[in-house]
Amino acid sequence: MNKAIRSMYCIRCKAEFAAGDYPSGCPCCQKTGHPASLSFRYDGRWEIHEKQRGMKRYAAMLPYEDFPTLGEGGTPITSLPALAEELGLGAVYTKNEFQNPTGSHKDRMNPLIVARAKETGSRMLIAASSGNEGVSLACYAAKAKLPCCIVVTKNIAPGWKKAIEATGAATIMTETAMERWDVLREKTGKGWFCATNLLDPPVGSCSYGLQGYKTIAYELYEQLPGNLPDYLLVPVTRGDLLWGICEGFLDLKKAGKIAAIPHLIAVEPFERIERTRTLEDAAGHFEGKGDKTPSIAGTTVTIQSLLALEKTGGFAVSVSQAEAESSVGEMGRHGLYLETSSALLLPALKKLVRDGRIPKKASVVLTATSHGFKNP
Ligand SMILES: Cc1ncc(COP(=O)(O)O)c(C=O)c1O
Ligand SMILES: [Zn+2]
Repeated sequence: MNKAIRSMYCIRCKAEFAAGDYPSGCPCCQKTGHPASLSFRYDGRWEIHEKQRGMKRYAAMLPYEDFPTLGEGGTPITSLPALAEELGLGAVYTKNEFQNPTGSHKDRMNPLIVARAKETGSRMLIAASSGNEGVSLACYAAKAKLPCCIVVTKNIAPGWKKAIEATGAATIMTETAMERWDVLREKTGKGWFCATNLLDPPVGSCSYGLQGYKTIAYELYEQLPGNLPDYLLVPVTRGDLLWGICEGFLDLKKAGKIAAIPHLIAVEPFERIERTRTLEDAAGHFEGKGDKTPSIAGTTVTIQSLLALEKTGGFAVSVSQAEAESSVGEMGRHGLYLETSSALLLPALKKLVRDGRIPKKASVVLTATSHGFKNP
């Protein structure tokens, strides 16, 4: 582990813990029925390893400085001036997370999870997934020569299942999404290392992995020097990505590298975060139609999502399934072929500009989380 790590702490109640494995998050908050993620306290400076590429540039701020790599991170940004003009915005960019090795942002999380599993001498990695996380974890586990098992529901798209199994990973199938967490709870421990959430209400994925998402904020800081966007739109289900990006910007602010943090906007396929008022509301279930956007269709909310919005002065917005479906073509006509679960940021942006929630002339980055070749 990175020697700069001093301790872990709960993002909700701030209790301090020795660095270790807490698949259920903060034990105190779990007891009260409001599971909350743990994060890390680091000693040492925020610094870039200039000679390195990808996530290793920022290894000083990650839990592992050495991790299995497939060439993740260092994703480009694409400027969309025609779209900015059409909407009256100062600038619109995409951050191309679909250009990661397995075609999604998850490739920033799994190298660190696999590194942790290796250090703890785990025999097996396990995760619940609707597709992207399963493929990504399976590939990184294969690279590190660790066996892997992905728990999926029976309606997973066949392409995803085939990709997971091509790595040698096993799949376990359940009827419903929630039942996947029962399997995870039964298996975790005894040499099985759990990568993803296993609770209801959910806590989020493994803390070591979440740290990898900080590198998106660090890269944007390097790619748009002195010119970070006013708003960053992120597709959200359990808020792993949203929270990780938030922490990255908080680090940059604390290190004196930036004066202001972009407002994070959580984009959902139906109202979940939008219906919560307090951190305690996160324990509810929120039903809605999400079949066109299976990667972000979970019916739960996490405390980490709510805190990321609170800390950045952001908010949540939802778009309909019909809007999400047509967004693939809308983004395609700007040259970006995205999975529906990430293309839906475009109708969200249009709605926010129309409603005046994003002001004219503002600058915006859309987090293009996943490649369109995954669309069924
Ligand atoms: C395409 C895509 N976008 C965004 C997300 C965001 O998920 P989370 O909010 O859990 O970070 C996911 C997660 O599976 C995804 O597959
Ligand atoms: Zn706590």
